[in-house]
Amino acid sequence: MRYQPIDSTLFTNNRKKLAKKLKPNSLAAFNSNDLMPTNADGHLPFRQNNDLFYLSGVDQENSMLILCPDFPDKKYQEILFLQETNEQIATWEGHKLTKEEARTLTGIETIIWISEFQKLFHHMMTMGGVAYVYLNTNEHYRSEIKVETRDARFIEWCKKNYPLHEYERIAPIMGELRYIKSKTEVELMQRACDITESAFRRVLKFVKPGVMEYEIEAEYAHEFLRKGSRGFAYTPIVASGSNSCVLHYIENDKPCKDGDILLLDVGAEYANYNADLTRSIPVNGKYTKRQKEVYSAVLQVHQSAIKMLRPGVQYFEFHKEIQKLIENELVGLKLITKVDIKNQHPDKPLFQKYFMHGTSHMLGLDVHDVGSMYAKVKVGQVWTIEPGIYIKEEGLGIRIENNIVIGKQNNFDLMKSIPIEPEEIEELMNH
Ligand code: GLY
Ligand code: MN
Ligand code: MN
Repeated sequence: MRYQPIDSTLFTNNRKKLAKKLKPNSLAAFNSNDLMPTNADGHLPFRQNNDLFYLSGVDQENSMLILCPDFPDKKYQEILFLQETNEQIATWEGHKLTKEEARTLTGIETIIWISEFQKLFHHMMTMGGVAYVYLNTNEHYRSEIKVETRDARFIEWCKKNYPLHEYERIAPIMGELRYIKSKTEVELMQRACDITESAFRRVLKFVKPGVMEYEIEAEYAHEFLRKGSRGFAYTPIVASGSNSCVLHYIENDKPCKDGDILLLDVGAEYANYNADLTRSIPVNGKYTKRQKEVYSAVLQVHQSAIKMLRPGVQYFEFHKEIQKLIENELVGLKLITKVDIKNQHPDKPLFQKYFMHGTSHMLGLDVHDVGSMYAKVKVGQVWTIEPGIYIKEEGLGIRIENNIVIGKQNNFDLMKSIPIEPEEIEELMNH
């Protein structure tokens, strides 16, 4: 593993929290993700199903977790099914978890090879008074799934073979659990942020007129990998000049020009947890007067927003407040006037031309993490704060993004040591 072993207490506690939320006499089933094919015998790097990871720490394909907290035989209350391994398999396919390693990693006693799944599952479904079966689907509000997942295949199989059990959705429960981060999870996220910080500091020294955006991407990748991250938390955005106004710019194939702004939305993953950082820096090491004006406007809003996203606040209400702050800054930047605002159509406010995305999202095992955005903000959640102003006609886009933990007294900024003041960024770029 590239990351330090995680104490199994994290996963044991997560399973305990889940068990409390299930109806009596329930069984909950979790599948690993598939290894996704590309062409011929190729496949994408493996990425575990985040719910399975959250409950077990298993980072391996062809795995299943069955939780059945009221099952009469204690040894079947938690079962982990794994791809069989032995010396010969290890020689050909590389290391897979042994039963002993899996016990240490997960805190689960009963580890069974997945080839024995159907027989044991039949026993569970028929012998132990299981009434409710919780199955998993991806219910993320932005998900768009065109392939049949292992979960989807399992749902079909399970319902076909056991049509008269009561079926329930586990996804809303997983959202409620996962959106509150434990101390261990925050530490892992801090590590992802720290790795991101070293790469950003390295990039500050590297950027100069003439470098290609992908060379900057390569600097990040090198630093992430050498620090134990498996790479980018999401497709990196390295956007110079007018590309900074394209919100999902990922080509990263243009030269960085003297006098241009460079928007860097790049974060590392660590142990499947994510960092999500954006900084906007001057290609030549010195912001122009206008770039600095816009930068300072966004920074002002960013600093207010960090203080405003507090327990009890509803995200969409907060977002409206931030939009008002941005609107006010746009007046200061002479992009719109107070009179324009008075006359604007309420459904088409003028600020939307310059600030068209959300201010924040939850962050964790997913970059746009699970859990309802309508629920009130709670202590222990991790949110991004990422206001921006994008002026297409000037080829100037500024976004500033940090990751914060919602605390009881104050929010804690996981990125508090990452350079953000324009003077500090200039200083680091020039020395
Ligand atoms: N980097 C993705 C986002 O900021 O939401
Ligand atoms: Mn973000
Ligand atoms: Mn981002």
